[in-house]
Amino acid sequence: GAEPYLVGGAVRDMLLGRAGNADLDISLVGADMATFDAIASLTDGAVTKRSQFNTARLALGEMTIDLAMARLEKYPSPGSLPTVRPADSMRQDLARRDFSINAMAVSLSTKSWGELLDPHEGRSDIGAGLIRALHAASFRDDPTRIFRAARYAARLDMTLETETLCWILDSTRFIARLSPERVRNELELIFDEPESASAAMRLLDAWDALSEIHPSLRYDARVWARFASETSELGRQERAGVGYATLCLGASDADAIAVVARLRPNAPSRRAIRDAAKLSRIAASETVKVSDRSNSELASLLDPLSESAIRGAALSSADVARRRFEEYLSRHRHLKLHLTGDDLIRMGIQRGPEVGRALARLRSARIDGDATTAEDERALARRLTAN
Ligand code: CTP
Repeated sequence: GAEPYLVGGAVRDMLLGRAGNADLDISLVGADMATFDAIASLTDGAVTKRSQFNTARLALGEMTIDLAMARLEKYPSPGSLPTVRPADSMRQDLARRDFSINAMAVSLSTKSWGELLDPHEGRSDIGAGLIRALHAASFRDDPTRIFRAARYAARLDMTLETETLCWILDSTRFIARLSPERVRNELELIFDEPESASAAMRLLDAWDALSEIHPSLRYDARVWARFASETSELGRQERAGVGYATLCLGASDADAIAVVARLRPNAPSRRAIRDAAKLSRIAASETVKVSDRSNSELASLLDPLSESAIRGAALSSADVARRRFEEYLSRHRHLKLHLTGDDLIRMGIQRGPEVGRALARLRSARIDGDATTAEDERALARRLTAN
């Protein structure tokens, strides 16, 4: 009895002729939680997750579909999560959405199968390449939409419609009301699209949205221009670490602590932020020295610091220093010695801290090119035992 519609990104991407992500969102008018269970049992699927917003996730073999009851939203205060109630029609549900290009639905009911519902002229905005919000309060209600606007404009190479841009500029101050988790989620969604991250960050910076997260966050066009090529091979966590580090280059230690308090990211990202502040000072004030230091000196400087922060500092450094950072990461940081601690003990080095010191000496020799083969390492170890 419920009326199902395909909504949101899947409709947008179909009209754009883009292969979207495999996420399907289906909204149902006249449904309740029991409808979701009925759909699951009719399709041999399973409801895996339900939310307070009348949504559920349906797992169908390899595929997942997000089911939602068509709903109206009310925002008790700027930046808070909405309270929801069922909508009487799909049009009502579409009117609460972020942008016209995301506010289209395709009917999946037998009687109107495939009909496009487009009350906000999303299709025409797709043609014109415009990101258009539906009403003046959109970004005040939900300031995460400011980040979404930048992400879509960058990803789809679209422009902000003039009034929408005014509404954004009027609403950036409400970013301060967002919870750490919601801001973080938006930043990480941007880091997750390395090809368009730079353009999205440029927009957020131009709108003063980054400084609303914390005044010490910096956008540097030169650094972000390298972000995609330097991070597209990295895993999600590592790339997020580089993204955070990149935003925090040049921050003071106290600022880095404040950014961590604002965003409350996970441990590796916290470390990337704090170490980025430390490293950018080293990279900026000691560019010449970074390039003049021996490999092993540089390694002892960088060994205690987060790999993501080092990648961030590399992005921001002049050529010579950047090559040194990159060489350290690719060749020295994880260098594996031929000899082990047990080998050294067998050669007569005393069990305990001496072993660690001897291994460090061997690593320095390898990094500086004073030892290469297992035999070189043994010769050096023999000299150390003799001493
Ligand atoms: N939506 C909204 N306001 C938000 C978040 C989402 O109006 N702050 C609506 C939009 O209609 C959006 C839909 O919910 O299309 C689904 O949101 P989401 O899954 O985040 O985005 P997608 O449209 O699937 O796009 P993406 O390709 O970025 O995942």
